[in-house]
Amino acid sequence: MNKDLLSLYDLNRDDFDEIFRRSEKLKEMSKGGISYTPLRGKTLGMIFDKSSTRTRLSFEVGIYQLGGIATFLTRRDIQLGRGETVADTARVMSRYLDGIIIRTFAQELVDELAKWAIIPIINGLTDLLHPCQILADIFTIIEKKGRYEGMKIAYVGDGNNIANSWVNAAVELPFYLTLACPAGYEPDEFILQRGIKESEGGLALFHSPAEAVADADVIYTDVWASMGQEDEQKKRSVVFQDYQVNEKLISYAKEDVIIMHCLPAHRGEEITDEVIEGPHSVVLDQAENRLHVQKAIMEILMG
Ligand code: CP
Ligand code: NVA
Repeated sequence: MNKDLLSLYDLNRDDFDEIFRRSEKLKEMSKGGISYTPLRGKTLGMIFDKSSTRTRLSFEVGIYQLGGIATFLTRRDIQLGRGETVADTARVMSRYLDGIIIRTFAQELVDELAKWAIIPIINGLTDLLHPCQILADIFTIIEKKGRYEGMKIAYVGDGNNIANSWVNAAVELPFYLTLACPAGYEPDEFILQRGIKESEGGLALFHSPAEAVADADVIYTDVWASMGQEDEQKKRSVVFQDYQVNEKLISYAKEDVIIMHCLPAHRGEEITDEVIEGPHSVVLDQAENRLHVQKAIMEILMG
């Protein structure tokens, strides 16, 4: 495995499968009340420039359960926010910490931190990517469907960080990924082109949600306006109005389709209350799995 998890391009198929195997094992141990503390004496630095419930909790609780501790840092707390260089921050932090998770705006900041740090850097979400989320999502698909191979996974909505990371994953793993995005809101062009050329199980972009979800095993959606795009919220709710995951849309999918959302959700916008609370929804298991999968990532990278 690479030193860092900056994007899912850092992982080959064996790395993905190792993370899923360890996640399963760690979940089993945790459910069985077995204490397992391979990261005793280790410290995780947590730099957060954006809000978080699941990512913060899963890493903070996760490192604690693995025997280590976390130190939570916002830009207000550290000198990075006052202009200390990323290079100095990374090299200094490497002298104290055993790993860093960072949630911020620019992917370039995360990449730069990793370039200078000698400890693992984990991407906890940027405007471009959210690799840890998609690892937990695929782990959830394995739990619910027994495998990811050959699954048809349909992403409906904004071509954002979640969509980009799904396209990254499709380059290594043999599932069929379809995306339905409005014109002008497709995934990152470079990531998409690479996905189309190199995807293991196929990748198709549609503008029609009904076409994208036809016979799908999984339907996935996310907010129409991500963190940092709050001022576009109004405009986006018009552009995306035909992209709602509702009862009618899910009726085009397989009968046993599972509905996924990384959360937080805006009910009544990208997904109806009925669907997110309905029998096909797995969103709470998906959220819980962040914990088990994040523990596996830390165990592997920091152990
Ligand atoms: N899904 C996710 O990353 O949630 P948070 O923003 O609450 O961390
Ligand atoms: N696309 C969302 C994901 C939140 C977990 C955002 O970036 O706000």
